[in-house]
Amino acid sequence: MPVVVVKDLHKHYGEVRAVDGLSFTVEAGEVLALLGPNGAGKTTVVEILEGHRRRTSGELEVLGFDPESGGRDYREKIGIVLQEAGVDEDFSPRELLKLYRGMYPRRFAVDEVIERVGLAEKADAKVKTLSGGQRRRLDLALGLVGDPELLFLDEPTTGFDPSARRRAWDLVDSLRDLGKTVLLTTHYMDEAEHLADRVAVIVEGRLAAIGTPAEIGGSARVSSTITFRIPRGTDISDLPDLGGQLLTEGADLQLRTAVPVDALERLTGWARARHVELAGLTVERASLEDVYLELIGAEEQRAPGEQDKVSS
Ligand SMILES: Nc1ncnc2c1ncn2[C@@H]1O[C@H](COP(=O)(O)OP(=O)(O)OP(=O)(O)O)[C@@H](O)[C@H]1O
Ligand SMILES: [Mg+2]
Repeated sequence: MPVVVVKDLHKHYGEVRAVDGLSFTVEAGEVLALLGPNGAGKTTVVEILEGHRRRTSGELEVLGFDPESGGRDYREKIGIVLQEAGVDEDFSPRELLKLYRGMYPRRFAVDEVIERVGLAEKADAKVKTLSGGQRRRLDLALGLVGDPELLFLDEPTTGFDPSARRRAWDLVDSLRDLGKTVLLTTHYMDEAEHLADRVAVIVEGRLAAIGTPAEIGGSARVSSTITFRIPRGTDISDLPDLGGQLLTEGADLQLRTAVPVDALERLTGWARARHVELAGLTVERASLEDVYLELIGAEEQRAPGEQDKVSS
């Protein structure tokens, strides 16, 4: 059963269509990641779902509520990590967590949350003495302490060092194990790939693609990259027609192709006939990042540089 239902959502700021007819659902227990370039509308969508912004039009149902009118009953069931949160800097993480925890009927123990986000060393220090990444860990802790059914995480790991990021991933994995539903935004493809059951790519307020990372990866027009080094004593012009798109990448050649088996057959056939080696030969499938860049590139070409204007 879906926990979040979004139908034809619009949010217009004057002439700017920040969200321009979005529809998607999030199933119970699912982790959905919103991807998209700066200004695509991710935060706007998330904040509308949290009940922090009013929509221009569209239908919404989140945990059975309309976020705009759900009030306290709704707020008690969700956890929020804003893209930019402001907390009182003279309090310590432990004090803030106790305060927030008091507002929820269900909740986690303060020490457990502090431990989970990796803030034990700074639990009693004033927030103003925390580093950027430590503050973000506090934001995550505050979103979690009310034991929410549904958690909104807007770029939760921006500014995290690699080990803190891994820890945050483990945290989201453990939330999934507890059956929580998570809607997150991120600019990190590896994060989306690791955490998300499904990914929704948003470009200029519209849905460009939605599916599992594998489904989206598999939808690439150019699905594979064959990399090899041109043998000594030969020249690019000696190569047979390999199809696809051939690029020079430092000392290597890269062939981007939708039919890697055909291309490999021609390439290796050519090398064997000439008795030359193809040093450093590798074949890689398109990554989520490749497809993502392809998707947003195509969308940007469709609407060059400018948002659609709303006729009034
Ligand atoms: N309060 C506002 N008033 C006017 N325009 C706004 C407002 N908030 C957002 N916008 C515009 O709406 C669009 C979407 O912004 P939004 O913050 O949702 O993007 P985002 O996808 O979260 O981007 P980022 O990756 O940079 O966080 C942008 O064009 C932005 O300038
Ligand atoms: Mg944002």
